[in-house]
Amino acid sequence: MSQVFQHDVLIIGSGAAGLSLALQLADHCSVAVLSKGTLDDGSTRWAQGGIAAVLDNEDSIESHVQDTLIAGADLCDEEAVRFTVENSKKSIDWLIKQGVPFTPNDEHNSDQPYHLTREGGHSHRRIIHAADATGLAVSNTLIDQAIHKDGLEIFTNRMAVDLITRRKLDTHGHGCVGAYALNGESEHVDVFKARFVILATGGASKVYLYTSNPDGSSGDGIAMAWRSGCRVANMEFNQFHPTCLYHPQAKSFLITEALRGEGAHLLLPNGKRFMHRFDERKELAPRDVVARAIDHEMKRLGSDCVYLDISHKPADFIKSHFPTVYERCLEYGIDITKDPIPVVPAAHYTCGGVIVDTKGQTDMPNLYAIGETSFTGLHGANRMASNSLLECLVYAESAAQDILSKLDTVPEPPYVPDWDESQVTDSDEDVVIAHNWDELRRFMWDYVGIVRTNKRLQRAKHRIDMLNKEISEYYSNYKISGDLIELRNLSVVADLIIRSALMRKESRGLHYTLDYPNLSAEPRNTLLTPDQW
Ligand code: FAD
Ligand code: SIN
Repeated sequence: MSQVFQHDVLIIGSGAAGLSLALQLADHCSVAVLSKGTLDDGSTRWAQGGIAAVLDNEDSIESHVQDTLIAGADLCDEEAVRFTVENSKKSIDWLIKQGVPFTPNDEHNSDQPYHLTREGGHSHRRIIHAADATGLAVSNTLIDQAIHKDGLEIFTNRMAVDLITRRKLDTHGHGCVGAYALNGESEHVDVFKARFVILATGGASKVYLYTSNPDGSSGDGIAMAWRSGCRVANMEFNQFHPTCLYHPQAKSFLITEALRGEGAHLLLPNGKRFMHRFDERKELAPRDVVARAIDHEMKRLGSDCVYLDISHKPADFIKSHFPTVYERCLEYGIDITKDPIPVVPAAHYTCGGVIVDTKGQTDMPNLYAIGETSFTGLHGANRMASNSLLECLVYAESAAQDILSKLDTVPEPPYVPDWDESQVTDSDEDVVIAHNWDELRRFMWDYVGIVRTNKRLQRAKHRIDMLNKEISEYYSNYKISGDLIELRNLSVVADLIIRSALMRKESRGLHYTLDYPNLSAEPRNTLLTPDQW
């Protein structure tokens, strides 16, 4: 049997963004949090390097702002950047209050209580971290707080399928009033009604064959918002992390940029450094530059990977600062205190997303988007390392404030009919789903990757049009499953990425095309507007 639930606020996603928001609202109203798997199945848990924030007396807000603007290749929204950076210390203080065990500073004569590391694009040490497993520390702390919080109801194994809007219900007014969600246990679709709905569903890097992200990063929030009539922006800017472990069993395990921040060198197979030929900042150039340089060298030499070497640092330093990377590499027979690590780039972060303002408010009344699913304007054409968790925290706080200020003014949601399954049957050929998943991720990697051309993008567009038709037909005829929901969302997101990439007639930040290798004079965001706008 399907069930109907009603809360003041429905938060879809239990990563850093969703749980931070939930914890700030639950004292004031009833809150439901949905996660499509376990509470820690998003990207947050996997974050390694840390969170960028202005915490050191020698650092300044202006410096963090300028570094972000430079990394973003003239496409950041300066207001969003200032807003985020100005609130960075407050967000970190909040996390510390929740109990996140950040690594303490081991310099005794410093008044900075926490160790700050460095990453690409940052001109100061400003990354607060918990060794090299910052995401795990943040995730564990927030989950621990959330499961003990009154007023907060948690639903795991619930995959939101689509948003429920007044327009779809044909009732008076405009706005979001809930979501349909597939219950992974009962296999029924439940109704979650709410006065405010928040998409905190993370990114879409699973659209690529090789990715540092967990399996659920299928862009569900972006696709749901788009289908409901919200605009999206800058979907062509997919960040490829330069250094993921190259090993057949490693499934793109990330080797944190903080290794380069602490002095690791990138090497060719012959042991020679090469980054100085691409950028004067060498290994600490922004990610787009480093990933492209690696891609270029791998193609030039026909090699499967390059190497990252930190073995010139003392073994104790390596083991205490990078215990996760050390242990994980050792499992594959690589002792990073002695050996260079084989690395390749992999899809890592979705810079584009659902357009929001500084409160996380989307185009649709009562619908918010926060975290990686949103487009705030902070990242421009290339996100600077460790600005992402910061964005999750800052926008969770501002969305909470906005929702609290409107609590008394937004009416109860109207009647919502049950999910209609009367026209569909059980699927007879699940192989179609598995095949299309694979095909989509492969052509996105081959044709819409680090280096693009018009021809490759046209090929990708042709394929996504065919796939979209097939997936829509399948969706209309058969009962939904988790895999089908994700495939449907991935196909929407892939289409948005390809369309955005075709619209950008220049190379900027993460979008690099051989057909337009130069910057255009005027930096512009790529805005996509749905038909029902
Ligand atoms: P996520 O943490 O991805 O959570 C998404 C949530 O949404 C999950 O709970 C998921 O179950 C849920 N969900 C998704 N779809 C649905 C649906 N349809 N129905 C119900 N629930 C749904 N950033 C930094 O700033 N610093 C770092 O050091 C750093 N390191 C990283 C290392 C790795 C390996 C990776 C992958 C990312 C890293 N990032 C880092 C990026 C950062 O971790 C993410 O951008 C951030 O955690 C995103 O948080 P989020 O809350 O938006 O989404
Ligand atoms: C890393 O630790 O290299 C990832 C940092 C990030 O993605 O911000």
